[in-house]
Amino acid sequence: MSFPQPVIIGSSPAIQKVNTITRKVAGVDLNVLITGESGVGKELVARSLHFFSPRKSAPFIKVNSAALPSELIESELFGHEKGAFTGADRAKAGKFELAGQGSIFLDEIGEIPIYMQAKLLQVLQDRFYYRIGGMKEVAVSARVIAATNQNLDQEMLDGNFRDDLFYRLSTISIHIPPLRERKDDLQELIEFFCTQMEKQHNLPRINLNSRLMDLFYEYHWPGNVRELENYLKRLSVLENYTEIAERIQANLDHKFPSEEQPPVEEDEDRIPEEVLQENLNSKVFPSLKEVRDQAVHRVEKVVIEKVLEETGWNRKRASQILQISYRALLYKMKDLDIAPPYK
Ligand SMILES: Nc1ncnc2c1ncn2[C@@H]1O[C@H](COP(=O)(O)OP(=O)(O)O)[C@@H](O)[C@H]1O
Ligand SMILES: [Mg+2]
Repeated sequence: MSFPQPVIIGSSPAIQKVNTITRKVAGVDLNVLITGESGVGKELVARSLHFFSPRKSAPFIKVNSAALPSELIESELFGHEKGAFTGADRAKAGKFELAGQGSIFLDEIGEIPIYMQAKLLQVLQDRFYYRIGGMKEVAVSARVIAATNQNLDQEMLDGNFRDDLFYRLSTISIHIPPLRERKDDLQELIEFFCTQMEKQHNLPRINLNSRLMDLFYEYHWPGNVRELENYLKRLSVLENYTEIAERIQANLDHKFPSEEQPPVEEDEDRIPEEVLQENLNSKVFPSLKEVRDQAVHRVEKVVIEKVLEETGWNRKRASQILQISYRALLYKMKDLDIAPPYK
């Protein structure tokens, strides 16, 4: 499968810097670490690094460590032989092997369990490894590009990320700032996505009214460029300008609560009551299990957020206090939509 030429849009100084460094290091076989919040364009930059390198016609292979259960990461990266473990009913090449002379993109590298970090470091140093259960050395020829939306400096301080691996991965590092810090790029990005939709999907060109444009400039874009792209996609298909404006307005109100609104109360005792009331009000009676699940979710969310705040968003500490595993906490955070507040 061939990918179209990646284009990194934006003439803000930040994006120009990203563009320049991407072009400069693309052709050099150094490991690159790309950092930035979710949706800022890390994968796009990784694809550009590959596209503008002599490895262009070889594969670009992405591994998303966050999407894999920890016990599968090793086999995903390095492959296994038949019978290497229960369920390994046939031999399988790992992503390093599939990438061959191309590039391997280790997305969400911060999510790799600590014992796998040791193994990965060793492989990157030795430039070879064995498939799980294998006897034959497999050489590493791929170029390694990693990305993370975590603050790895903090993760290293907390003992969640090995600093030797960090230094190995980040020979070159590229940071992409969040969209709210480079709103100069909005106009060009909107232009770009609208043209793309028009050309690729044959949709009528959308015209943003001034209310929506004002909101776009005011908005803090927690989902960054991905969020913008999604709104524009919805707009060109559904032409629901009011709905999008209302949604952004609601997010804005949520982020900057106005003075008339009472502060969000975080009283745990109140929550089951609230769930009950909502369900009674709706006059459609849910099953007891549904009510219980909703109540449990809300209580969990409040408690987890509280512990995270107490620990300064140190997830390792928080998981210890909550007496769940670190991974379970990460999962819960995703599931319950818990994220650190923005500066
Ligand atoms: N500067 C940019 N120019 C054009 N498209 C962008 C830009 N930044 C992000 N995108 C697009 O936004 C979406 C999310 O980007 P992605 O690279 O997946 O973000 P991340 O990996 O940081 O979560 C993708 O469709 C990507 O092509
Ligand atoms: Mg991504």
